[in-house]
Amino acid sequence: MNKSVMITGINGLLGQNIVQEFASDHDIYGLDLTPSIFGSVNNIHVNQLDLNDTVALEEYIRLVKPDSIINTAAYTNVDRAEEDQDIAFAVNGQVPASIAAICKENEIPLVHLSTDYVFSGNSGPYRETDICDARGKYSESKLSGEKAVLESGAEVAVIRPNVMYGHGEQLKSSFVAWLLGELRNKRSVRIVDDQYNNPTYARRLASVIRSVIDQKAWGIWHFGSKEVVSRYTFALKIADTFGLSSALINAISTVDLNQKAPRPLRSGLICEKLNKELNIPIMSIDEELALLKEEMNVS
Ligand SMILES: NC(=O)c1ccc[n+]([C@@H]2O[C@H](COP(=O)([O-])OP(=O)(O)OC[C@H]3O[C@@H](n4cnc5c(N)ncnc54)[C@H](OP(=O)(O)O)[C@@H]3O)[C@@H](O)[C@H]2O)c1
Repeated sequence: MNKSVMITGINGLLGQNIVQEFASDHDIYGLDLTPSIFGSVNNIHVNQLDLNDTVALEEYIRLVKPDSIINTAAYTNVDRAEEDQDIAFAVNGQVPASIAAICKENEIPLVHLSTDYVFSGNSGPYRETDICDARGKYSESKLSGEKAVLESGAEVAVIRPNVMYGHGEQLKSSFVAWLLGELRNKRSVRIVDDQYNNPTYARRLASVIRSVIDQKAWGIWHFGSKEVVSRYTFALKIADTFGLSSALINAISTVDLNQKAPRPLRSGLICEKLNKELNIPIMSIDEELALLKEEMNVS
């Protein structure tokens, strides 16, 4: 009999990539706000459910009894969270707390997705043991979520990616798809050159999540690429990988964008622990972009 995994936010970028990772040998139970994008595949079952409905959520988990739960769902609009803080704290803080409590009661391991935004972004890259100091409502709400799951007493892994990119269907926002679209249509773009991090490729993150579950590797894990670069340099690398001219990519500063929420400028995640303890190779951005190109079937 197949093992089963429950994925919240299954229609999102990471949710879709996790489905790719587990679909060959797992029964998949997904929840999201929107209808399933997976069509009728025998072992993928998706229900529409607002995770804030704790009673329905608990009923669903008791019914499905998954072997593990992966919580990717989140309120991810960083600027809007400054105004919608109640929703951000509900989805990013209280929902993970409820899921973790249900996991504890039903002895189900939980993988929860957090973010590098739990750090101030003043002195990255960061290790798992560094002190968290979230700035802005999205970041504070994500930090409250990871604290709640870590304190729940359940078997929990918290994985922190940063600037996640990858391939998916019907995504509301995707940096790579947007950039490729603009460059192919010969439109110039402005990209910040003062925000540094080591972007996380969603397809490989999904395989990291699988390793964490298979090895019962509970605790906090950082995952990104080998080198820390500015978003501008990342955009140049994307253009280069996909054979597009970078002449239309212009460097700007974060202050030029006048965004509502603060952004970490010196971020990034040190991934040594994952590499040493779980034997997961940490790849360069160019290597991972080449994998993405292959995944997108672009010649
Ligand atoms: N993307 C990044 O750059 C990045 C970086 C660091 C960390 N992370 C973290 O990684 C995780 C996955 O990110 P992602 O980019 O895959 O996010 P995503 O594409 O926005 O997917 C999240 C999914 O969760 C759904 N969702 C939101 N609220 C929900 C609710 N109340 N009930 C049920 N479903 C709900 C969303 O639906 P709607 O779209 O309809 O709201 C969406 O389908 C998140 O925890 C995020 O904080 C992401």
